Amino acid sequence: MTILVTGATGNIGGEVVSHLVEKKVPLRALVRDRAKAANLAAQGIELVQGDFSQSDSLDAALQGIEKAFLVMPNDLHQVELECHFIDAAKRAGVRHLVKLSVLHAGELPSVFQQWHRQIEQHLEASGMAWTHLRPNMLMQNMRWFAQSIAQQGVFYHSVGDSKISHVDARDVAAVAAVCLNEPGHEHQTYDLTGAEAVSFNQVAEYFAKALNRSVQYVNVIPANFKAARLANGEPEWYLDAEAQLFDCWHAGAGSIITMAIAHLLHRPPTTFAAFVQDYVRHSQDFSTAST
Ligand SMILES: NC(=O)c1ccc[n+]([C@@H]2O[C@H](COP(=O)([O-])OP(=O)(O)OC[C@H]3O[C@@H](n4cnc5c(N)ncnc54)[C@H](OP(=O)(O)O)[C@@H]3O)[C@@H](O)[C@H]2O)c1
Repeated sequence: MTILVTGATGNIGGEVVSHLVEKKVPLRALVRDRAKAANLAAQGIELVQGDFSQSDSLDAALQGIEKAFLVMPNDLHQVELECHFIDAAKRAGVRHLVKLSVLHAGELPSVFQQWHRQIEQHLEASGMAWTHLRPNMLMQNMRWFAQSIAQQGVFYHSVGDSKISHVDARDVAAVAAVCLNEPGHEHQTYDLTGAEAVSFNQVAEYFAKALNRSVQYVNVIPANFKAARLANGEPEWYLDAEAQLFDCWHAGAGSIITMAIAHLLHRPPTTFAAFVQDYVRHSQDFSTAST
């Protein structure tokens, strides 16, 4: 049995590869650019070049594959591109596909939730076995604020004091590896959250403790948050989609807590406090912090 992992140079896919390597599962990593995956090649991992926009490359990449992990970033063409991959997997005789989706897929107005549900539905109609992994906001999103935490001791967001059950991408990847490598997860949807819902004020306290300096969360009204990020070059469609999502978090949608990670990994999810300690210890991002 060989498993194909997409997004192997990314956040979650990279961690899925690590888990499967640890379990000694035969795997192939799909990458767009071999140069970006030199660390994977150095570990002896089979690389295959492929792009969701190039069906021929997917047909070649999927030869002899029994199971696959599907992930890609939010993109205006995400539905079309992930569906290309699903169609190619079906053509290649893949038996089971584990898809990285999002919490509340299909249930919220944000395009992220709508697009992921459309892709899930395409996968469900394919006839292959499927598993949908639906994580809440990833703790790793804090890397977006690393520079302002390091330089100013603050980070900015517009979710007020909403409580969110953020989840560690490493836990999501560990769940993906279980679903790919063990039987019994076919035709299942797993909502993946942390064990606690925390506000960004609490997150700021975790950073302050880990860095031993003052760190504060500054809430910004949504219009100003959008304007600042637009000026920074972020695409407007993405900011509007996020703003829709943040409205839902204000209404409490991000605070639900599920037991899926504990059940699947036989241990509690990583806490935000532990994540921050790990992140600060291993990341260079905060090294310019002055006390
Ligand atoms: N961030 C959150 O809080 C959150 C929460 C829930 C769900 N999600 C979902 O998580 C997904 C993103 O996961 P991530 O953080 O692991 O993403 P990521 O770190 O941005 O990695 C994305 C991977 O996809 C690859 N890729 C991009 N376009 C591709 C294409 N056309 N063909 C083949 N591969 C392609 C990238 O390759 P290159 O290295 O070549 O670019 C990279 O390896 C999104 O769908 C999002 O909705 C995110």
